[in-house]
Amino acid sequence: MNILIIGNGGREHAFAWKIKQSKHCQNLYVAPGNAGTAQVAQNVAIAVDNFEKLGQFCLEKNIELILVGPEVPLVKGIRDYFESKPSLDHILMVGPGKNGAQLEGSKDFSKQFMLRHGIPTAKAQTFTATQLEAAQSYIDQCNIPIVLKADGLAAGKGVIIAESREEAKAEIKDMLQAQKFGAASSKVLIEEFLKGIELSVFVLTDGTDYVILPEAKDYKRIGDNDTGLNTGGMGSVSPVVFASADFLKKVEERIVQPTIRGLQQEKIPYKGFVFIGLMNVQGEPYVIEYNARMGDPETQSVMSRIDSDFVELLAACAKGDLKNKTLTISQNFALTIVMASGGYPGDFTKGFAIAGLDKPHEAQVFHAGTKAKDQQVVNDGGRVLGITATAASLAEAREKAYRTVLNIRWEGVTFRNDIGEDLMKISG
Ligand code: AMP
Ligand code: GLY
Repeated sequence: MNILIIGNGGREHAFAWKIKQSKHCQNLYVAPGNAGTAQVAQNVAIAVDNFEKLGQFCLEKNIELILVGPEVPLVKGIRDYFESKPSLDHILMVGPGKNGAQLEGSKDFSKQFMLRHGIPTAKAQTFTATQLEAAQSYIDQCNIPIVLKADGLAAGKGVIIAESREEAKAEIKDMLQAQKFGAASSKVLIEEFLKGIELSVFVLTDGTDYVILPEAKDYKRIGDNDTGLNTGGMGSVSPVVFASADFLKKVEERIVQPTIRGLQQEKIPYKGFVFIGLMNVQGEPYVIEYNARMGDPETQSVMSRIDSDFVELLAACAKGDLKNKTLTISQNFALTIVMASGGYPGDFTKGFAIAGLDKPHEAQVFHAGTKAKDQQVVNDGGRVLGITATAASLAEAREKAYRTVLNIRWEGVTFRNDIGEDLMKISG
């Protein structure tokens, strides 16, 4: 098959790496890609939301399967665009239409969806700019901390956890009236704070049947011991030792199945990934958020544990043929450490040469914000590399990944030193 991956992050490099191993993969392209995807595929300089150009490219190269990595093209309707063009509608695509992508694109939509289908989640109320007073009196009745969520896409920054009612009131004013997150915060959810441990479960569905991928844990804060600002994710681990078979069964029965049934009942066709962000509250799963795509850097760990042919799965999903499909999952642990530009998630400087990339490594080096410049690879984004190691034990995967991290450097590089440490305490 000729395959096009859309996106330019570590997630897309991990997808490309995995897809390249399939016997079904003939020509592989990534739009726009990064310096890492260029090693396994051909990069194509087209933006993820330039549907017209992507469509032309697919016709030129006879693309048979498209895998959409990030949320923006999904929420903007890439599937709807391809389905609306008779010359493009035959191309298989993994990624839901605009309707289904609302699970991620609108937190109000996803909250109401969960409530309609009895899916366990935190209690919440939604307010718009004309309801500021009502929102502030609602805050008076809330327990602290209070979670405020911008309704729309805010590049992972739209959630604020306020430690006092005063802070919550000031924040909600900023969000609703001063449009702190632009149009994304023209509606805001005030949500109950759930206390527990987070993990994510990933489902690939064709709208009727599904396969559950390995679960993973993400490390969202920039600093060790979960301190400092939120990021896109600074590391990931799979499997998650506290996700017992019993817990995962509850997730499947109470969350995965009702989600897919709910989409069917609401006549929302869905061919793609559902990323379910969960809080484990004393052994009971609650949904924190849905995403209509895979996670980054969770994908780097998850792809490293899938032994099955990934192209077969993707094609089955896009054809509506997932029934009876199973996954072979490696028993190994996979651990990813993100190496970021100094200053991230705030301002950072790009263009420093990355040293050590061409040494032999005992871990997989997935690129994210990198580009090739004057025969060198330079940092070109906030999150730059994802170093993924696999091993029979978490401790060993962790050692291999950190040894690799120490062999690679550029000016200002930063990373967390504690990826997986919390899980080692649990697993012993
Ligand atoms: P989200 O963008 O919805 O994933 O939220 C970002 C982060 O905020 C999550 O990963 C959680 O750490 C935290 N968070 C979101 N909602 C809640 C909640 N109801 N209770 C506690 N923490 C939350
Ligand atoms: N790592 C979190 C996400 O991809 O949303």
